[in-house]
Amino acid sequence: MGAEDLRGRRALVTGGGSGIGRAIAVRLAAAGASVVVVDRDAASAERVAAEVGGTAVAADLSDPAAVEAIDVDVDVLVNNAGFQHVAPLHEFPPEVFATILRLMVETPFRLVRGALPHMYDRGWGRVVNVSSVHGHRASPYKSAYVTAKHALEGLSKVVALEGAAHGVTSNCVAPAYVRTPLVEGQIADQARTHGISEDQVVEQIMLAPAAVKRLMEPAEVADAVAWLCSPSAASVTGTSLRMDGGWTAH
Ligand SMILES: NC(=O)c1ccc[n+]([C@@H]2O[C@H](COP(=O)([O-])OP(=O)(O)OC[C@H]3O[C@@H](n4cnc5c(N)ncnc54)[C@H](O)[C@@H]3O)[C@@H](O)[C@H]2O)c1
Repeated sequence: MGAEDLRGRRALVTGGGSGIGRAIAVRLAAAGASVVVVDRDAASAERVAAEVGGTAVAADLSDPAAVEAIDVDVDVLVNNAGFQHVAPLHEFPPEVFATILRLMVETPFRLVRGALPHMYDRGWGRVVNVSSVHGHRASPYKSAYVTAKHALEGLSKVVALEGAAHGVTSNCVAPAYVRTPLVEGQIADQARTHGISEDQVVEQIMLAPAAVKRLMEPAEVADAVAWLCSPSAASVTGTSLRMDGGWTAH
């Protein structure tokens, strides 16, 4: 790793108050960036911003007006905020589907649309989209999430094509299960639903499709994001780095 130097760069991380977003904020700050932590949860945004010597912005990113009010004059944009809702398709609430699509597709579009002119002016920019193994594979009961992550993969590739001439790269990172509050909530839910222990949920359900039988840590994803911002990754664009323990090798 090591070669990235983000001193003098400004990075914006959505959903930076928790989990993967927090780890990315910490990692980019360690590489020298000044980090803007955007989160709906004002207290966690403030906490992480204080931890990394950055700035907090409290905003509900499923609200287009709130998104448009954010200062996107940044060099690095990390689209990370997201949530999961699990329900059979015929019972899936349409309003939850719409919110997931807004937060996880339309908002990244709006943020990148605003940030690109600034990146173009400086002839350098990095867009990193936190996708998922579900940007490449489907699972039952996750219709909105799978749809959103597939769409984000497509958006990221268009940004790569348009941005290349201006020194801007755009990539996805696509992890399988990462140990975060989002996943810990799912583990507890599934243990209740299936009447099994939390360890059994992890081993028998979550890790079943993966060859590497462990949950990832948020810092592993953050390292990949930092690498995508490094000079060594200048020709890496329009790709999706699958950090899925071999899930999609099947
Ligand atoms: N944890 C995993 O296993 C995993 C795997 C693959 C991809 N991902 C993706 O990683 C990203 C982060 O997930 P995580 O596991 O760190 O979750 P998390 O719940 O720990 O963190 C998500 C953060 O996003 C914020 N957020 C949610 N809705 C928001 C909104 N409307 N406006 C502003 N902020 C909002 C939350 O407040 C929270 O701080 C998501 O896009 C998720 O799909 C997670």
